[in-house]
Amino acid sequence: MKPIRKAIFPVAGLGTRFLPATKAMPKEMLTVVDRPLIQHVVDEAREAGIEHFIFVTGRGKGAIEDHFDVHFELDATLTDRNKQAELEQLSRDLPGAGQTSFTRQQLPLGLGHAVWCARDIVGDEPFALLLPDVLVQHTPGCLAQMMQVYREQGSDANMIAVEEVPPERVHMYGVVGVGAAVGKAFKITQMVEKPKREAAPSNLSITGRYILQPEIFAILENQPRGAGGEIQLTDGMVRLAQMQPFLGFKFAGQSFDCGSKIGFLAANVSYALAREELAPEFRAELKRILKDL
Ligand code: UTP
Repeated sequence: MKPIRKAIFPVAGLGTRFLPATKAMPKEMLTVVDRPLIQHVVDEAREAGIEHFIFVTGRGKGAIEDHFDVHFELDATLTDRNKQAELEQLSRDLPGAGQTSFTRQQLPLGLGHAVWCARDIVGDEPFALLLPDVLVQHTPGCLAQMMQVYREQGSDANMIAVEEVPPERVHMYGVVGVGAAVGKAFKITQMVEKPKREAAPSNLSITGRYILQPEIFAILENQPRGAGGEIQLTDGMVRLAQMQPFLGFKFAGQSFDCGSKIGFLAANVSYALAREELAPEFRAELKRILKDL
């Protein structure tokens, strides 16, 4: 079994649901409390033992690259002002030298295409894939939980994080069919993108965290465009599932779809309430606002 050392973060999307905020700023730099979305997911990947962070970027996404670089003037100013805690935090947040790669998806042709753009950097080894607009609030993080279960099951399988959604909402998600248990995971029998409620094989939705085998790249290479004219990752995974096992894993934790406004706002509330130094004052403020409604 090959270890999983690398993770892909697709960040080339246009973020149209957050316009105008995302006109000149990447969606992935929107902050949940005081950390950009992309920092939250990089933290999750580092905690899971990932050593190399691959960002698939696009036009206008330079701020992400700058975010994961040393900011010399800022460091110098913080040093002058004796802001030791801030300096240490900045340094902790930064992956080490040579641990990041940036490649460009020249056109936003879909998630499957974004993943394929990272093929040469990943090479012939399994990798993690984290969608930065999904946050999972839990310790250990979602990917750390997956890695543990992946190691325990002991084979070169693919693994997808799944969670229960209300049956009336399955038409909004990729949904999996549930087969036999494999340790703490289960065999996925089918994957369907946005099924009608009556046709859905379960109410377990695909949640933005994956462990994939490198054979996915050859499949994505000649993957025809699917829904919305985009090269869909799920279509590629359906084809890979004809050759390799796919496991589903129900993670512990609360997920937030920060690609939607409600999910993003809810994440801010929940993450702020989890911060000791903010929670008492913020809770009082929330109560005051809600009372007036
Ligand atoms: P989304 O479809 O949620 O992001 O993709 P989007 O297209 O940016 O957002 P909206 O719908 O227009 O508001 C999930 C993740 O995949 C990346 C996005 O950057 C996001 O992090 N993505 C999506 C790509 O990297 N390339 C693509 O072609 C599409």
